[in-house]
Amino acid sequence: MFPTCPPPLTKNKRTLVCCEEMADGERMGMKSKRILVTGGSGLVGKAIEQLVTEGEGQADEEWIFLSSKDADLTNAAETSALFAKYQPTHVIHLAAMVGGLFRNMKYNLDFWRNNVHMNDNVLHSAHLHGVTKVVSCLSTCIFPDKTSYPIDETMIHNGPPHHSNFGYSYAKRMIDVQNRAYSEQHERMFTSVIPTNVFGKYDNFNIEDGHVLPGLIHKTYLAQRNGTALEVWGSGKPKRQFIYSLDLARLFLWVLREYEEIQPIILSVGEEDEVSIKEAAESIVTAMGFKGEVTFDTSKSDGQYKKTASNSKLRKYLPDFKFTPFSQAIKETCDWFVANYELARK
Ligand SMILES: NC(=O)c1ccc[n+]([C@@H]2O[C@H](COP(=O)([O-])OP(=O)(O)OC[C@H]3O[C@@H](n4cnc5c(N)ncnc54)[C@H](OP(=O)(O)O)[C@@H]3O)[C@@H](O)[C@H]2O)c1
Repeated sequence: MFPTCPPPLTKNKRTLVCCEEMADGERMGMKSKRILVTGGSGLVGKAIEQLVTEGEGQADEEWIFLSSKDADLTNAAETSALFAKYQPTHVIHLAAMVGGLFRNMKYNLDFWRNNVHMNDNVLHSAHLHGVTKVVSCLSTCIFPDKTSYPIDETMIHNGPPHHSNFGYSYAKRMIDVQNRAYSEQHERMFTSVIPTNVFGKYDNFNIEDGHVLPGLIHKTYLAQRNGTALEVWGSGKPKRQFIYSLDLARLFLWVLREYEEIQPIILSVGEEDEVSIKEAAESIVTAMGFKGEVTFDTSKSDGQYKKTASNSKLRKYLPDFKFTPFSQAIKETCDWFVANYELARK
């Protein structure tokens, strides 16, 4: 831990707000933070980086965004070396093996092993290096399959997850177990957030392996280019709450700075903003100006029918937080994908 400013990282091109740029008064009077973001090259990490770059970082914050090129976090020695090198005071832990329904169904073992190793390595290195606060990322898709709705933060461990993604789900649930244990045994402030389905720029737009929205955006793009029908997988009936990556990033900044509970908090739009896959597809069709036929392949799995989550805990803390309207966020994401088609992950 740093009683004063941690040593500056002037040569690191990922450093966006450096302590050296702080006024003396800020150095003396404010708590300096060096924030390490694991998974900084992914969908959520890039959104946080955008906000920080655009001025939403604070003067006492130094941000370091990491990818798997910096260290393989499934490897304990590499993770420990990373913490020794950067000596963070705070960590946002986003790195994970992530994927949509079909990738999860194929690789449950890999999802379990990779995520358990990454989470354990990051949390234990954070503990050993005296990190003040860690915010990790769970997901609403790890909740019990058989449950009452809406789900809330107290229900994570109440029963088995959906069979399609049990590897990912159990690995993510263990973060909450570890957070409680680090708090009880070592008084660590390690907490977690629970986002619903995230989408936005820099998503994985791979049709087979990605999540439903980026997959649909990519399929709509191809259908338009090739003059074919847009085929939606499944019945289109399942419902989801989608959160725009920039809204989630803004909430992450708030959790890092203000949220003081070990227990997780659901970061989601309201229950009234749940949309069906069919409605989501229609929104993409409108955003991309697609004029062709839309079909539904009901031979493909629907996954969990719904996962309606309550955001009332979030609303108690932030009653006035404004989410970007779904259609606007979809339009911005589609426009980015079309403009960056060659570079986008797909
Ligand atoms: N996307 C969603 O809908 C959603 C919903 C709820 C919760 N979440 C959670 O949100 C977090 C961020 O998800 P995301 O959608 O931003 O994921 P993403 O776009 O797939 O990015 C994953 C990130 O993890 C890094 N990573 C993967 N394996 C790694 C390893 N072995 N060592 C070091 N870094 C590794 C990747 O680095 P490279 O770029 O170098 O590969 C990348 O930066 C995850 O914890 C995820 O479980 C996501």
